[in-house]
Amino acid sequence: MSEAYNKLIDKNKAWAIEKKDTNPDYFTKIQLPQKPPFLYIGCSDSRMPLDTYTQTDPGQLFVHRNIANQVSLTDINFLSVLEYAVNVLKVKHIIVCGHYQCGGVEAAYSNKAEGLVGNWVNPIRDLVLKFDDELNNIKDRHLRLNRLSELNVMKQVENLYKTTIVQRALEANPDQFQIHGWVLDLSNGLIIELDMPHERWLRKGLVKPEWLE
Ligand code: CO
Repeated sequence: MSEAYNKLIDKNKAWAIEKKDTNPDYFTKIQLPQKPPFLYIGCSDSRMPLDTYTQTDPGQLFVHRNIANQVSLTDINFLSVLEYAVNVLKVKHIIVCGHYQCGGVEAAYSNKAEGLVGNWVNPIRDLVLKFDDELNNIKDRHLRLNRLSELNVMKQVENLYKTTIVQRALEANPDQFQIHGWVLDLSNGLIIELDMPHERWLRKGLVKPEWLE
């Protein structure tokens, strides 16, 4: 076994002992049924553990992660997570969180992604074409990619509104949950809340949720 691997197991033991020492009820409480207030849809990137950035404990975030935080309307894995989070767990917030310096976004932009990953990030290629003018007006490549990461999050939030899962839930109760789009800036660890036209993405005839007033 490698040293890095052994360290994982050792760190786990030390963590479990410390938790029990400082809070004897910790593991009793964790075994209770989960009631997480948040669904986190994020990038698989190893630098993106949202619980670290938000100091959330186990039980707070229900998580779906994939390369470049895609809300794919044909991904049965993602749709199952969304359905369970909305219909069973009844989360109060759905968060799509991208990040700057995203390898998936960069690969899509530079046409470098190969094989299955190339397929997977193809929707971001579409965004590059759609926002051609806006992106080309940003001279600095780093800033241009940052903007593309933001546009990607906005597109994925728009996709959320297209799912029948979200539409049915909003039909029944416009305020069952709030939807948020974030990017995380890896250079300072801060979350940026993105403004986006939620109202435009609500299906016609649906009541506007109070949180959008
Ligand atoms: Co990424």
